[in-house]
Amino acid sequence: MLQHDVLVVGAGLAGMRAALEAKKQGVDVAIMSKVYPVRSHSNAAQGGINAALSEDDSWESHAFDTVKGSDYLGDQDAIEILAKEAPQAIIELENFGVTFNRDERGRLGSRNFGGASHARTYFVGDFTGQAILHVMFEQLLRTGLTSYDEWFVTQLVKDDSGAIRGVVAMDIRTGQLHLVKAKAVVLATGGMGRVYEPSTNALICTGDGMALAYRAGALLMDMEMVQFHPTTLKANGALLSEAARGEGAYLLNKDGERFMFKYAPNKLELASRDVVSRAEQIEINEGRGVDGCVLFDLRHLGAEKIMERLPQIRELALEFAGVDIIHEPVPVRPGMHYIMGGIKTDVWGKTNLDGLFAAGECACVNVHGGNRLGANSLLETVVFGKRAGAAAAEYVKSVGDVRVSEAWLRDEEARIEGLLKRPEGEKAAALRLEMGQTMTRNVGVFRTGEQLLEAQAKIQELKQRYQRVSVGDKGRIFNTNLQFVLELENMLDLAEVVVASALFRTESRGAHTRLDYPNRDDANWLKHTVATYTAAGPKLDTRPVTITRWEPQERKY
Ligand code: FUM
Repeated sequence: MLQHDVLVVGAGLAGMRAALEAKKQGVDVAIMSKVYPVRSHSNAAQGGINAALSEDDSWESHAFDTVKGSDYLGDQDAIEILAKEAPQAIIELENFGVTFNRDERGRLGSRNFGGASHARTYFVGDFTGQAILHVMFEQLLRTGLTSYDEWFVTQLVKDDSGAIRGVVAMDIRTGQLHLVKAKAVVLATGGMGRVYEPSTNALICTGDGMALAYRAGALLMDMEMVQFHPTTLKANGALLSEAARGEGAYLLNKDGERFMFKYAPNKLELASRDVVSRAEQIEINEGRGVDGCVLFDLRHLGAEKIMERLPQIRELALEFAGVDIIHEPVPVRPGMHYIMGGIKTDVWGKTNLDGLFAAGECACVNVHGGNRLGANSLLETVVFGKRAGAAAAEYVKSVGDVRVSEAWLRDEEARIEGLLKRPEGEKAAALRLEMGQTMTRNVGVFRTGEQLLEAQAKIQELKQRYQRVSVGDKGRIFNTNLQFVLELENMLDLAEVVVASALFRTESRGAHTRLDYPNRDDANWLKHTVATYTAAGPKLDTRPVTITRWEPQERKY
C-alpha cells in the first residue's frame, strides 16, 4: 500500500521547496511528478528572482511595486509576506549553492526588471530558473524522500468527510494506476499555458492540478488574468527574457520609432508587462508592425554583454528566428506566458478543501492580481512553496488514520479502460490546436464580449467533441497518447473557466483589457472572481480584495 503523510504533486520549484520544508518538520513526505523533476517548467524561467536586498531598497518599495503592478487586485497581506520574506529566500538559495551573478565588489548583483523602482532582480545569466531548480533538486536528493517520477495524477481522492486524502495516479512507465493515500496533498503542478497556442510554456503546462482541484470543489480565482509577455518569437512562442530590456534593449516599430515613449514615458520598455504588451499590440494593429511583430533591438548592448548575460536568448533567436541579435533586431510579439489566477489559497497554501494545499503558479494566493511583475514568480514558488510545505506538515499531525475507499481506484481504472476502448474518433491534437488558437484569437491582449461569447461557444463544441476523442495507442507502457487525452480534458475545463471569468469581469484591469469596458471600475470590480465547478459549467462569484496600506491610484509608468 502506498501511503504518506504529505504528498506533493509537482516537482518544479514550488513543489520541491514544499517537500523540503515538510520533510524538515519530521513527517513522511513524497513528491510526485509527471516528468523527471529537473525537467519541470521552472527550468524555463530566464531573467531572475526579485528581492529588496540592497541598502537603498526596502520590502515596502518591492511590495508597493507589486501592488501597483497587480493593478491593485493583489491581496496586500500576501504581497507584504512575499516582499518581506524575499531577502531571506535569496540568501537561502545562495546558501543552497545557487551561483547568482556577482557585481564588481563581489556582492550579489542585480538587474532592472519591468515595473520595479529598484534593480532588485537577482540572476544567473538568462537561465536563472534552471540554475535554481538543479540546486533545489540536489537538496531534495539529500533528504532521501520518496519520489514518484513520471507519475500522472488522474484524480484527487476524498474520505467520507470530503477531505482530500490522496490521489489516483498512473505510473507512466507501466501504465498501471495506483491509489496513493496521504493525510495532505500539496498541489504544485504549475501553469496552464498550453491552453493557448502558442505559449512560452513547455508542453507539460496543461493545468492538471488546477483542473483536478476545480473538479473536486476547490475555488479557482481570477482566471481571466492571463499574462502576455511582450517579447516572444512568432515562430513558436519562445520567450526572449525581460532581462534583455532590463539590460537596456529597445522596442521599435517599422519606422524605427522607440514607441514606448508614447505609452509609458517614464519606464519605457520597463513598464509592467500588460502595459508593454498592449502598446505592442496597438502598434501592430494600427499598421506600424513588421509582419505581425515589433522589432526588439539589442545591438547597442554589444556582443560581450549579450554573450555574458543573455546567451540563451541569443541562441533562441538564432535557432527559431534565424536572427543573430548581436547584429540585427529580432521580430517579437506578445505571447501567452503566465496565469495570475489559480486555486484560491490562504497565505499558508490552504485551499477551501480540507487536506488540500497549493503553491506556485497553480495557486492564487493572491500576490499577482491583474498582472504579475517579472521575476516575482520564481520568488512566489520559494516563499509560498516553503509555507505550504510547513503548513501541510503541521496539519497532518492532527489527522488520524486515512480511510479511503478502493472504489476510487476501480472507478479510475474503468474510466481509463473506457477511453482506451473507444472506437476511432476525434483526434486530441486537433482539438487541442483549435482550443489554443481560439484562446489566442478571442481571449488575448484585447478582448470583447462578442469575442468571448464566440470563444465560449467554441469551447462548448470542443467539449462535446472531446466525448468522441479516441486514443490511438492502445498499449499501456509510456502511452503518451493517453496522457495527452487526459491532459486535454483538464485544459478544456480550464479554458471554459478563463472565458467565463473574462465575460464576468465587465471592466479592464491589469492584463484583462475589454474593449467594450475600457476603464478600470473600482466601484464595482475591486474584487476577485471565483469559479466553482458545476456539471453545467463554472459558477461565478466574487471575493473582496485585501487592502492593507495602499489605496488604489491611477496607474502610470
Ligand atoms: O522574461 C523573463 O525572464 C520572465 C520572467 C518571469 O516571467 O518572471
